[in-house]
Amino acid sequence: MEVIQQDVCKIQVAILTASDRSARGEREDLSGKVIEEVAKSNGWEVAYYGIVPDEKETIKAELVKIVDKLKADLILTTGGTGLAPRDFTPEATLEIIHKEVPGIAEAMRMESLKKTPHAMLSRAVCGVRGKALIVNLPGSPRAVRECLEVIIPVIPHALELMQGEVSDCGTTPR
Ligand code: MTE
Repeated sequence: MEVIQQDVCKIQVAILTASDRSARGEREDLSGKVIEEVAKSNGWEVAYYGIVPDEKETIKAELVKIVDKLKADLILTTGGTGLAPRDFTPEATLEIIHKEVPGIAEAMRMESLKKTPHAMLSRAVCGVRGKALIVNLPGSPRAVRECLEVIIPVIPHALELMQGEVSDCGTTPR
């Protein structure tokens, strides 16, 4: 678990890649790197970056640890949303969130369908655990970039609503 110094006035992002091959070190995690690049270019802070194998209990435990111990605002997962036998990220996410936010996943699929019919094969879900928003992204670097483009405009307002209070960092959206 790599924990990076936090500036609490910025949106704190955690990146979790679910991939057997990347977890074994057999494949470079290009999708996690795309999330990192996009997060930084939006002025967000990457507070955590981790890679886990496609195992439901491992993904669940890591998500709980990130939200409950690290206090990240936004957890972006990549991978494991499809139909392969070891794609479990949506199931893991659904088991640890308190509220589902179906509109975010619906919007990603809707916009992605304009680019590829394969978008309908992603079972990505999104939800709230505590004061953290968890969003599943598909596994390919291109899909990550395309889906982030769809959701980025709503993230600051979503986090404001979840926090339910004006932060010490000022009243303007972060
Ligand atoms: N969404 C976008 N925007 N762009 C893509 O290229 N690929 C799809 C889909 N969503 C894709 C996309 C494909 S090919 C698959 S199989 C599913 O996401 C699930 O991907 P995953 O199993 O790697 O999570």
